[in-house]
Amino acid sequence: MRKKVAIIGAGNVGSSTAYFVASQGIADVVLIDVVPGLPQSRAQEFSHVDRLQGFGVTITGSNDYEAIKNADIVVHTAGIARKPGMDRMDLLRINVDIARKAAKAILTYAPDSIVIAVANPLDVIAMVCLKETGFPHKRVFGMAGILDATRFRYFIAEATRTIPEDVFAMVLGGHGDTMVPLPRYTTISGIPITEILDKKAIDSMVDRTRTGGAEIVNHLKTGSAYYAPAASTAKMVHAVLSNTKTVSPISAYLTGEYGYSDLYLGVPVLLGSEGVEKIFELPLNDEESTALKKSAEAVQQGITLLNSL
Ligand code: NAI
Ligand code: 2OP
Repeated sequence: MRKKVAIIGAGNVGSSTAYFVASQGIADVVLIDVVPGLPQSRAQEFSHVDRLQGFGVTITGSNDYEAIKNADIVVHTAGIARKPGMDRMDLLRINVDIARKAAKAILTYAPDSIVIAVANPLDVIAMVCLKETGFPHKRVFGMAGILDATRFRYFIAEATRTIPEDVFAMVLGGHGDTMVPLPRYTTISGIPITEILDKKAIDSMVDRTRTGGAEIVNHLKTGSAYYAPAASTAKMVHAVLSNTKTVSPISAYLTGEYGYSDLYLGVPVLLGSEGVEKIFELPLNDEESTALKKSAEAVQQGITLLNSL
């Protein structure tokens, strides 16, 4: 039987993720949203595209959470997106409420699923999904590092006039302004960028990576990025469904790794059919450790606020 991917939230990120996942042709896709007609319209359109592109999967839409029944993966994108001047933490109260409802539905209808959180504030929403479902933590994680690293890769490729495929980038920490791009672990075909670019150029790309999401918000004015976030999420879905054992930074639940516990933080992991199959601990120098501590503290602030709600 074909696998099933349920996507909660049929807004910009949710519907784009549905499109990318459907186009992989490996899973049926169901879209859920509270807005009447929205998930249905997206599903219908994507089914029309299927006739042209030959995805060969079924795409449906519903306003009823029951439609996620027996999904292998549930992607949680439902929530409010950032507007100009809005911090990811501004979204916390509203999006936590929505995530709690979604997580309860996941527990009821898809108790064996793997959950990929996408809504912001990402690392906090991943924690909500974990706590409300009670699933093992390897089955609940968040999409962020893969997107942040993709942005970093692009900026490096652009500056060095190399192809992005040759650039491998590592970004640790929470999905926010305190994220920790790691130049020492970022290479062009295995050559650390610290051997290729000067400090000023690297610092400017690190800053641009940290504010990569805000840059899109400032252009768009009415919302935040969605194609790259959706493509990043679809890559994670593919890694799980096809058991690819991809190594990528994602937001994972830590139980002592990097010195942190009971916290979601961006770290490199091995992604496969069981979810987070391994977390890699990179040796960090003092500067990197200090930056990661600052980022962990920012996520912890969100978790503390979450616990007070
Ligand atoms: P959007 O506003 O286009 O879509 C959100 C959708 O959620 C809307 O269609 C809304 O009706 C729906 N929704 C609200 N409450 C719901 C509920 N209880 N059940 C089902 N659906 C519900 O927003 P967009 O651009 O799709 O962003 C979604 C979220 O993803 C935001 O929180 C945004 O900040 C976050 N995001 C995270 C990224 C990451 O790297 N982790 C990257 C980009 C966006
Ligand atoms: C981004 O990084 C808004 O978190 C979202 O684009």
